[in-house]
Formats: sequence, structure tokens, C-alpha cells
Amino acid sequence: MRRPIIIGNWKMNKGINETRELLTEIKKMDWDRRVEVVVCPPYTSLVEASDILISTEIALGSQNMHWKDKGAYTGEISPLMLKEIGCKYVIIGHSERRQYFGETDETVNLKVKSALNNELIPIVCVGEDVEQRKRGGTDFVVSEQVRNGLKGLTPEQIKNIIIAYEPIWAIGTGISSKGEDANAVAKLIRDVLKDTFNDEVSEQIRIQYGGSVNLGNIKEYMDQAEIDGALVGGASLKAEDFVKLINYDK
Ligand code: PGA
Repeated sequence: MRRPIIIGNWKMNKGINETRELLTEIKKMDWDRRVEVVVCPPYTSLVEASDILISTEIALGSQNMHWKDKGAYTGEISPLMLKEIGCKYVIIGHSERRQYFGETDETVNLKVKSALNNELIPIVCVGEDVEQRKRGGTDFVVSEQVRNGLKGLTPEQIKNIIIAYEPIWAIGTGISSKGEDANAVAKLIRDVLKDTFNDEVSEQIRIQYGGSVNLGNIKEYMDQAEIDGALVGGASLKAEDFVKLINYDK
């Protein structure tokens, strides 16, 4: 059985004060402990978040990292720094990073390897854009992203990673994918994992859906056989909404 996992990707929102407010509120609320919960605040709020989340069951993640441990990379943050703060997870290759900051499957691969070497669990994001979708290229695009992003890794190394399927046209648009369509892509990802690695990895890895997840559609995704969680942007920024998402099954 794969444990459901809901991750809040705050993107470039919530400074230290707002982070304190939001997490203090979430901490007070009652959520379903069967679900694993992760929040990914911006870099400058990570230390504050880490202090607040200590001895809670909410894990901390970063939204990005560089693949090198240290050095002359102005403006970058290394996996060692994230570990030191207490991060357990790191989002890698979010489509906004691919779109606006030139990230490619190659940099994703470097980052995934580095995260794993530093005992951080990567949340690897894949997904097609609207043009690729229209011309029927979803399966090809997503398969390539998975294969290239995980190139050179062993089944043992990747068995605990998370893959987030996030169709780009669904992110922040309010136009979410149909549950069954997202499930079909999650199934495709499992087939690629099976081909590239083995059955065990394909069965064990948790696959999330992301893209305009909200209180009205969360259950539609969580009910799908191949989908184990959600990567949530906008709806993770309010304590009540986020906790209701976590409690989708209550
Ligand atoms: P959204 O973002 O829920 O606001 O669509 C999801 C994401 O980008 O991870």
C-alpha cells in the first residue's frame, strides 16, 4: 500500500511572518494522519518553518536546489544547506523552473542525483504543455521526462522518490485534468518505471497529480488507482483549505 501524500508548493508566497501564521494555524487543526503532509515554503522562510514544524508530523521541503554541494554559484542554494535546515524533500524540475529558468531534463537529472546523494527525497515534476497535449504528444513528452530525469540511477536509489504529474496547462489556470486522464498518465509513468527499472519500483513509487487541485476535485484524483497524492499550489496557501484537502477522505 502506498501512503497518500499531499504537498503544498507555496511558490513565491509567504515571507517569514506569514509562514509563521499559516503553519501555526495548520498545526492547531486536526488532519488525517494516514496522509503524509509536506510543505514547501520559499527559501527565506525555511528556517522559520523548520522551527515551527519540529516535533510535528509535517515534513519540510524546498522548491528547488542547485546540484553542487558548494562553490561559486551566486544566488544558488545547495542540498547541504537544505539538509542543515531540516528539509526532507525537494521539488525538482517544476514546470515553472523549466519554463522561466531554463531547466532541462539534464539539469533535472543532475539535481535528482545530487538530492539522493544528500539524502533528500526529490519530488520530480513532469508534464506536457498545451501544444504537446493538442497534438497527442503527452505520452511521449512525459515518458522522455521520466527516463531522462532518472537516467543513470538504480532501482534502489529511486524507490522512495515522488513523481508529480503536472500538466502545464492545468497549473494555476483553474482548468484541471480529468481524474481518469491524469490516472492514464500516472499509469504510463508506472509502465516507464517498469521498463526502465523493475516491477517493484514501478509499484512502490508514489505518483502525484498537480494542477488546479482544489476542494472540489481532490477526491476525484485521490480515488484513482495510480495516483497517490497531490502537489498543490494555490489551495495550499490557506490553512483551512489545505487541511480540508488533507482530510479529503474524512
Ligand atoms: P496550482 O499549482 O495548484 O496553483 O495549480 C500546482 C503546482 O504548480 O505545483
